[in-house]
Amino acid sequence: MPAIVVLGAQWGDEGKGKATDLLATSQPIDFVVRTSGGHNAGHTIVVNGEKYATHLLPSGILTPGATSVIANGVVVSPEALFAELDGLIARGVDVAQLVVSANAHVIASYHVAIDKVSERFLGKNQIGTTGRGIGPAYGDKVNRVGVRVADLFDEGILRQKVEAALEVRNQVLAKIYNRRAVEVDAVVEELLSYADRLRPMVADTSLLLNRALDEGRTVLFEGAQATMLDVDHGTYPFVTSSNPVAGGVCVGAGVGPTRIDRVIGVIKAYTTRVGSGPFPTELFDEDGANLQRIGGEIGVSTGRTRRCGWYDAVVARYSARVNGLTEFFLTKLDVLDTWERIPVCVAYEVDGVRHDEMPMTQTEFHHATPVYEYFEGWGEDISGCRSFEELPKNAQAYVQALEEMSGAPFWAVGVGPGREQTVVVRDR
Ligand code: IMP
Repeated sequence: MPAIVVLGAQWGDEGKGKATDLLATSQPIDFVVRTSGGHNAGHTIVVNGEKYATHLLPSGILTPGATSVIANGVVVSPEALFAELDGLIARGVDVAQLVVSANAHVIASYHVAIDKVSERFLGKNQIGTTGRGIGPAYGDKVNRVGVRVADLFDEGILRQKVEAALEVRNQVLAKIYNRRAVEVDAVVEELLSYADRLRPMVADTSLLLNRALDEGRTVLFEGAQATMLDVDHGTYPFVTSSNPVAGGVCVGAGVGPTRIDRVIGVIKAYTTRVGSGPFPTELFDEDGANLQRIGGEIGVSTGRTRRCGWYDAVVARYSARVNGLTEFFLTKLDVLDTWERIPVCVAYEVDGVRHDEMPMTQTEFHHATPVYEYFEGWGEDISGCRSFEELPKNAQAYVQALEEMSGAPFWAVGVGPGREQTVVVRDR
């Protein structure tokens, strides 16, 4: 199975690393690739009892022998990249096998300034971004005034591009947001200061990955953010500015859809969301607080508390559809150990009408209230279970019921944070 996509099926933070861990137990993974987003992501990885957090780097950076790739669809802050690399180097991690696409767009300090000031300006309509400059960098890309990694190696071109980018940005900063304009010289100097260190890492990553697939190597495309945060398919405008869905992987890596073998959607046994936007199963009561506490639902990137709610099968079915999922990986089932009765959202009611599928408009989605079915809890610690049969009967029934309503087969279930705390439902 050479080309595998692992992506988030809800609003992010589903524990995508668990799926990667399980894949790595059955085959060596040669390449781990990020294809969208930037250092707004957050992966927590535990290796030999040591905890690491990556934001921009693929988790493969911690796997000896694997090549980590930051592909063209990613927006790269060189400052964040080097800070992350230096953090790992200081802990003795070998980071030599990192490749960065020449075509990836660059996040400069002015993108961060604009992200922060525009959020403040939006007031109660704010997106709740991570404030890392992601949206403004993608905005420049689509407006064709972006700076790409390769531009850092040609000062003349770099200056031209920065001038073009700042022409409009500076007007906006000064005239709308009442901020000081950014100086071209300062930005050029800032970006050039990264060039020497970046140069040996840069390559044509589309060529590299396609050749690797031709040779039968295993390539893992590691999702960041998630389906419901997709700029096309998520809860727009409360989304990120890229395409974390499976289609975005092909665009973001320069790899055709016919090359992908598996698309694994990672989904929590309940739901969380960071930032603003609609969330039909969100809980504001003790259950929500308990999910947050037991699940340790605090953002890796921003330290923000995650909003929590019950499993939403409408979202699951939608994710299965827009991603063409071949399977789901259900995570954090153990978090539900103590509930006597577990609600699951099977449909929505919108203005008195039942919707079994995602409503067509965001207005309807904002008005959606969950229709719940209730399942018996299992009331025992499942973190030691290592096979589906070892799970208590009620936990098995919960998993089977979710599978039936979620639109794709369940491959495996996570029962704890450790690499080995996984139950395979069916072998692939
Ligand atoms: P941005 O990606 O910083 O522009 O933020 C846009 C929205 O996506 C905000 O609601 C963020 O909280 C959310 N978001 C971005 N990255 C992640 C992530 O890795 N996990 C969960 N939410 C995220």
